[in-house]
Amino acid sequence: MLIKLPSASDSRESDVTPESIYLSRRTLLGSSMAGLAMAGLPHWANAGEPSRYADVEPGRAPGWFNDKLGSLQWQAVTVKDEAVTPYKDATHYNNFYEFGPDKGDPAQNAGSLKVEPWSVVIDGEVAKPGRYALEDFIKPFQLQERIYRMRCVEAWSMVIPWIGFPLAELLKQVEPTSKARYIRFETLKDPQSMPGQRSGFALIDWPYVEGLRLDEAMHPLTILAVGMYGRELPNQNGAPLRLVVPWKYGFKGVKSIVRISLVNDQPRTTWQSLAPSEYGFYANVNPTVDHPRWTQARERRLPSGLFSPNVRQTEMFNGYGDEVASLYSGMDLRKDY
Ligand code: MTE
Repeated sequence: MLIKLPSASDSRESDVTPESIYLSRRTLLGSSMAGLAMAGLPHWANAGEPSRYADVEPGRAPGWFNDKLGSLQWQAVTVKDEAVTPYKDATHYNNFYEFGPDKGDPAQNAGSLKVEPWSVVIDGEVAKPGRYALEDFIKPFQLQERIYRMRCVEAWSMVIPWIGFPLAELLKQVEPTSKARYIRFETLKDPQSMPGQRSGFALIDWPYVEGLRLDEAMHPLTILAVGMYGRELPNQNGAPLRLVVPWKYGFKGVKSIVRISLVNDQPRTTWQSLAPSEYGFYANVNPTVDHPRWTQARERRLPSGLFSPNVRQTEMFNGYGDEVASLYSGMDLRKDY
């Protein structure tokens, strides 16, 4: 992300599942918060049906994930009239610098990440700090499918069917104190299984760190994801636990989380530390504030090939303005980019 512009062609036409298949899966719900209501089970979305998404590769889901699938609320939130990105693109065009700098590196290298057992630490300004085994951490929450747009700061985008639960539900359980103003997330640091952390190519001071203001973290659109495309998260997409904040640039979506801290001061995030003039703390998708080296007015919706470019206008807050604009009233988003 730091020094690379996306290449013009990222996927072969043969990788792409016909659009008609995806069109048939579109939901009638809009992306408004009204969509948070139970949507009913569409015919293709039977829990336990492996072919829910045509091109999905079966994984080896942990027991706790399979146990939760039966009560999963499918399409709790979705997008209208936009096709879900083919699984192949979502899982072979990744940014996960712990596994290498190129888009294909995470799919190739992330098999070395050991996601079981996994534990998550909750600490800082909370009444109930602790270290939780992932299965215990997930237990209280009902999983939902959230089909969200994802807009990378590099000006490509996808539509991903995540499986997760609202971060707000976790925060209510751990009870932030009155001093908690921000939330800080940390990815696993394990140079043995993460070749990118051994090589030092990206100048990143590991672990990868991200953060949100507490009201952003409490917003009902903000989720912690444990799956996508009806299955557990593939390693390259941030298994077993990642953040998804659909109105912000994709780099806020910190992967493979091991620590969640409630803090008083704004956390210094990875990309802010590397290039503060290019990547801000807020990172709200904003077509009117260009990256110093490229426009943010447009995006390539993947798959997008050289001979069939799929370019669209970028929307303010990635199309979630009705839900989130009020979080930023009175702020100068040119300054707080
Ligand atoms: N999290 C960690 N730990 N390391 C990373 O390199 N890359 C970020 C974000 N989360 C990254 C990360 C960036 S730049 C983007 S665009 C998204 O993950 C990409 O998510 P995806 O690969 O699932 O599309």
